[in-house]
Amino acid sequence: MNENRQNLGDTSPEAFRRQLHELADWIADFRQEIESLRVAPNDKPGAILAALPAKPPERGEAFDKILSDVDQLIVPGMVHWSHPMFLGYFGWTTTAPGILGEILSAPLNVNAMTWRTCPAATEVETVVIDWIRQWVGLSMEFEGVVYDTASVGIMHALAVAREEAVCEADNPVCPPNSPKDLQAGLPASRSVRKCGLAGRAELPRLRIYASDQAHNAAEKAAIALGIGEENVRRITSDGEFRMEISRLRKTIAADRQSGFKPMAVIATAGTTSTASTDPVAELAGLCREEKMWLHVDAAYGGGFAILPEDKWITDGWSNADSIIINPHKSLFVPLDFSVLYVRDLERLRRVFTLAPPDVLRRDTVQAAKNYMDYGVQLGRRFRALKAWVIFRSFGREGMAARLREHIRLANLFANWIKDDDRFEIAAPVNLGVVCFRFVGPVAGVGDARSRSAPSATEEKLDHLNSEIVEKINASGRAYLTQTKLRGRTVMRIGLGNVLTTEKHLSDAWEMIRQTANAL
Ligand SMILES: Cc1ncc(COP(=O)(O)O)c(C=O)c1O
Repeated sequence: MNENRQNLGDTSPEAFRRQLHELADWIADFRQEIESLRVAPNDKPGAILAALPAKPPERGEAFDKILSDVDQLIVPGMVHWSHPMFLGYFGWTTTAPGILGEILSAPLNVNAMTWRTCPAATEVETVVIDWIRQWVGLSMEFEGVVYDTASVGIMHALAVAREEAVCEADNPVCPPNSPKDLQAGLPASRSVRKCGLAGRAELPRLRIYASDQAHNAAEKAAIALGIGEENVRRITSDGEFRMEISRLRKTIAADRQSGFKPMAVIATAGTTSTASTDPVAELAGLCREEKMWLHVDAAYGGGFAILPEDKWITDGWSNADSIIINPHKSLFVPLDFSVLYVRDLERLRRVFTLAPPDVLRRDTVQAAKNYMDYGVQLGRRFRALKAWVIFRSFGREGMAARLREHIRLANLFANWIKDDDRFEIAAPVNLGVVCFRFVGPVAGVGDARSRSAPSATEEKLDHLNSEIVEKINASGRAYLTQTKLRGRTVMRIGLGNVLTTEKHLSDAWEMIRQTANAL
């Protein structure tokens, strides 16, 4: 009986210590030997599912057995984003301090919904957000909140934009807010948070503008906010993949004529395909004139603003309403960690704060910040701890040096492409991203460099570029991305992994050339 009771608690301290050591060795070995693994599996969908037990375990199993299944079933079934030959998307930022930070937060396992539920988690979050603000040179008017991803951040930013756009319009139908709401700082009446959008025929339809290169998190946000996907207008970008302001002006004017209410512009600093940056300062001027919200999606590009030579990325930010930076894309923090900055963060709080549920009522007393008030999420994990560990371990200098190396490698790779007649650079090389295209000649295709290349030739080249990427990824020896630029398929690499060296990059380049040769 006594023994049974003992079994009801946690693993014994001795066994746990042994398991932790085992895990520590596992992690260190994994990191040291990652290069010997395939970068990506080549199995058909369902292969891992078939190997895993379908029935849930009735009895507990030994940790050794579980870890051995991780080795045999999980690790081979993964795309290893932290492999030095992983050059897909934006590279990746797994680092030793990042892993340590993640491990540290596990035993603490707090819920930082209010200040009172974990003062340290709340205040470390505030500190880390402010460190990034200082590094990128944002004024103190901007304060932020940490979410999991930029997609969630943009939805929150646009919720505030929507509120401000609708509250501005005269609408006698919605009842005024109660005195209690007014005391809480909510607008006098007609707010969307209070009355919603549905059934309010008196309201104009709202419109959001983003370039044809912007991330589709804009559409996701419009769907979630009841604005509607089709009310995100995509504006054509110029030859350098930056939003064309003259087209934006025309679209806004036409929309106003048709009775729409232009609500927000999303400018991108570091677009997903080419890492181009929109002319944010000019867009800020336009938003001021038009009384629209300016959101800067600096999910990728924002981190690079810690480099003095890349401060240009932040041009115009001081006039933005909100800015997203994803330290999980370019500041060495493991997924997930995204910061939304808002000029006057109170605007965000006003949209999402509610009277606390009874169980939390006392917890919110006297707190400077209860992060549950700044978004839909109540429970919040201690994400800031891992960022705090990394930023202290590397320092700004260490992070800057690594980012510079990624930029150097990207430019080096671009030079190799320029030196090979069969390939061309498909977009200006920005930050750690290179887009390039195989242009032949190959049998039956010829050289598509001439602008007059018939579209059948271009289509054939699209197919070949896609095939090169597919073949390399299937080989398990490297991993690239493909994307579409102006309708044409191009190959793309993103540098961002601290393990990727010049040697890895030249091996990948050799592989690309050989794969092209074999086509
Ligand atoms: C420019 C840009 N914005 C937003 C996102 C969405 O990021 P997240 O995965 O953090 O939602 C991405 C993803 O790659 C991106 O490239």
